[in-house]
Amino acid sequence: MNVMRAGGGHGSHSPVGDDIIEAMTRETAEARGLPNEAFTDPAFLALERKHLFARAWVFAGPLSDAPDPGDVTCVDVAGRPLFMATGRDGATRVYHNVCPHRGARLVVEDRKNAAALTCPYHGWTFGLDGGLRTRPHYHGPLEHDREGSGAERDGLFEVRSAVWHDWVFVNIDGEAPPFEEYMAPAMKEYERWNLEGFRRARYRPFTFHANWKLAVENFCDNYHVFMVHPALHDMQAPRDRFGMRPDGVHMFNNYVIGGEGRGLTLDPAGPMLPDVAGLPEDLGKTSPFCNLFPNATMALFPSNVEFFLFEPVAVDETVMHVWFYFAEEAADTPEHRAARDKVVDEWTLLNAEDSGICRRLQEGRSCDAYDGGRFAPYWDAGTPHFHRRVAEAIRGTGAFAR
Ligand code: FES
Ligand SMILES: [Fe+2]
Repeated sequence: MNVMRAGGGHGSHSPVGDDIIEAMTRETAEARGLPNEAFTDPAFLALERKHLFARAWVFAGPLSDAPDPGDVTCVDVAGRPLFMATGRDGATRVYHNVCPHRGARLVVEDRKNAAALTCPYHGWTFGLDGGLRTRPHYHGPLEHDREGSGAERDGLFEVRSAVWHDWVFVNIDGEAPPFEEYMAPAMKEYERWNLEGFRRARYRPFTFHANWKLAVENFCDNYHVFMVHPALHDMQAPRDRFGMRPDGVHMFNNYVIGGEGRGLTLDPAGPMLPDVAGLPEDLGKTSPFCNLFPNATMALFPSNVEFFLFEPVAVDETVMHVWFYFAEEAADTPEHRAARDKVVDEWTLLNAEDSGICRRLQEGRSCDAYDGGRFAPYWDAGTPHFHRRVAEAIRGTGAFAR
């Protein structure tokens, strides 16, 4: 398939032509997904970095990584080095990790109790509020900065950011629709969940040898549980399995926990964790999952929440970062340690099973005979929706029209 076709809002050539958009828009059984190049061509990832990750709201990192004044934490958003910093005013801001003078990277390791940030090249110093504080020898040897020298225009480059619970999102180009609009479907979906009642306790990264979109799609794919995750059969009865439901740019699923286990507890006889405070009774056997477009996902259980970031490090390699949250009263208690470990271990087992499948999905994208595949209507309706949002970003249309 020749993917260089006319169409789209970013000039006369787009790798996602009108015919591909048309094929994505058909009813699910007749639809097609993105072409192989979208998963294998480094040039496509470069387009995504430029037109998708820089223009969408994207997850940057948990607020609990920089909770106190003076905390500075490096984050990387689809190849762009940024850092989060919490100022003396208690506000957490996100900046491009670069000195505005000659462009040296400013921060190379996380800091605690930082009063200011000094560039190692010529010593320009910045407050965590982003303002330029000093420029040594600016006017000549021992002639330091003086008022009226334009210091106010040379502060750090701040990135538009917003916080939802423990999760910091950024919009690098500053022109996406308001954050509240972007996040509204998730806010509504989880308004009865006491997300503030969970506390982050663990973190673990996993590497997938697959394109980031395949890893996200696999997370959203409930169909493969029959074949790939036999350990989940006791937790989720076959009749309780559904495909993803699009809402806004995101996708949601309300799974039902059929067994006696709580949390992601594959062995109901294992150690138990308490439910989060204030959980309505009818949610006590539910486990909603979602994709927060483009590359974050969540899994909610009565006693624990997992927040995932699928970071594209290469066109065929993705790091899945997982932050684990537990009900406040069980987040660091010694008596719940075994149960917390068990949740982490269970996700590790599931991810090991998914890892081999994701690698196969990536390998399959090298077969010319495959051109976007076939979707199963009951299960896969979310995937063409997801692909369409990516395509719109590349083309500068739909949710990405400006
Ligand atoms: S590059 Fe940072 S002070 Fe010159
Ligand atoms: Fe899986």
